[in-house]
Amino acid sequence: MMVSMLRFPKRSYVGWGSIGELFQVLRGWGQRNVLVVTDPTLVKIGLVEEFLSPVNHDFQITVYTDVEPEPSLECAERLVAFTRAGSFGCVVGLGGGSALDMAKLAAVIPQNKGNIADYLNLTGTMKLEKEGVPKILIPTTSGTGSEVTDIAVLSLKGTKDVITHDYLLADVAIVDPQLTLSVPKRVTAATGIDALTHAVEAFLSVNASEATDALALRAVELIGGSLKTAVENGKDAEARKAMSTGSYLAGLAFFNAGVAGVHALAYPLGSQFKLPHGESNAVLLPYVMKTISANCREKMNTICRILADGVKQVDDWNAEDYLRLFYYFVKDVGLPTTLKEYGIIESKLTDLTNDAIKQKRLLARSPKPLGENEIHQIYQMAYSGLQ
Ligand SMILES: NC(=O)c1ccc[n+]([C@@H]2O[C@H](COP(=O)([O-])OP(=O)(O)OC[C@H]3O[C@@H](n4cnc5c(N)ncnc54)[C@H](O)[C@@H]3O)[C@@H](O)[C@H]2O)c1
Ligand SMILES: [Fe+2]
Repeated sequence: MMVSMLRFPKRSYVGWGSIGELFQVLRGWGQRNVLVVTDPTLVKIGLVEEFLSPVNHDFQITVYTDVEPEPSLECAERLVAFTRAGSFGCVVGLGGGSALDMAKLAAVIPQNKGNIADYLNLTGTMKLEKEGVPKILIPTTSGTGSEVTDIAVLSLKGTKDVITHDYLLADVAIVDPQLTLSVPKRVTAATGIDALTHAVEAFLSVNASEATDALALRAVELIGGSLKTAVENGKDAEARKAMSTGSYLAGLAFFNAGVAGVHALAYPLGSQFKLPHGESNAVLLPYVMKTISANCREKMNTICRILADGVKQVDDWNAEDYLRLFYYFVKDVGLPTTLKEYGIIESKLTDLTNDAIKQKRLLARSPKPLGENEIHQIYQMAYSGLQ
């Protein structure tokens, strides 16, 4: 048996009401000066006030809201400059993946030399030397798994890039489904498909292990069984609970086994055409699954049996059947299934291919090697849709 290495955040609180642990954690750290990184929508809808008011009196809280969806390098640099000018003892990230990724950077980069660009995976030249201040990450979407990964994603011109380091891991993750009840339909669908994609890509990854398979399969069950209900009725507590735990488990699975082709091809759609991260995964998922299926049939059948709710004849399925299963899963939660629906014209597929091919870190985990031809073909299928 191969040796597998697993990494997790130091501590997680998961479940309805787990936000109640925030006060004790902060008190235990003895840091009064707290930076909360969130986004303007969450302040506007009262979520920040509702869930932070129990700790407001005992700590000096600064709420930073200059966080855009799919944050750019400039957005992150502004936050780092703001944090350097203050003296915060710890950071709380409260929001979707965008706010959580920014919170990670706010906790770590200001204590180190240089700027964000110096630490980027594709073009950076420096290594983080200092751990920074402690951080608590509290997701308000069930999607990215950012609360349990050591990754922060940034949107650059033309593509996306990441900073990854142990220091970006949460000291404490608090995963409370209550905080997701207000997520709008389309964001619920997109973030849910992102979580499903994490589980599926981790399960099919060449770096998968028995431990990550267990996490990934339970995540597929939870997400497969609840996403549609969560989209149709956002106040359904059971569906929100399942999605919240599912995205947390999917996050642990992909943090340790990696994501692959879907994410590699999704990044250029996010940066070139501003598709939200979950939607860019959703519009590619069926076509990538069709393309790689010949190299991972047994595992693909296992996933499809869960998603197709016990349908037995999955064992006889061919690439077209896998395609249809994922296609209708995405369509049923109300998301676009072709690039055309986003107004992307065919002549742009070459630019997309040229950027996707740069994501070698992600492509290396694909069960089927994806070179320039395969990548272009996948974009072409996603352009044309189901024939
Ligand atoms: N670090 C990681 O491991 C990782 C993994 C995958 C994706 N990402 C990154 O995460 C970002 C996307 O995060 P996301 O998909 O969670 O979306 P997001 O954080 O951009 O949020 C999307 C929208 O939903 C709103 N929203 C969030 N929670 C809400 C709530 N409870 N009620 C009402 N509205 C709410 C936000 O205000 C925002 O307008 C991208 O930059 C992506 O690249 C990071
Ligand atoms: Fe993702």
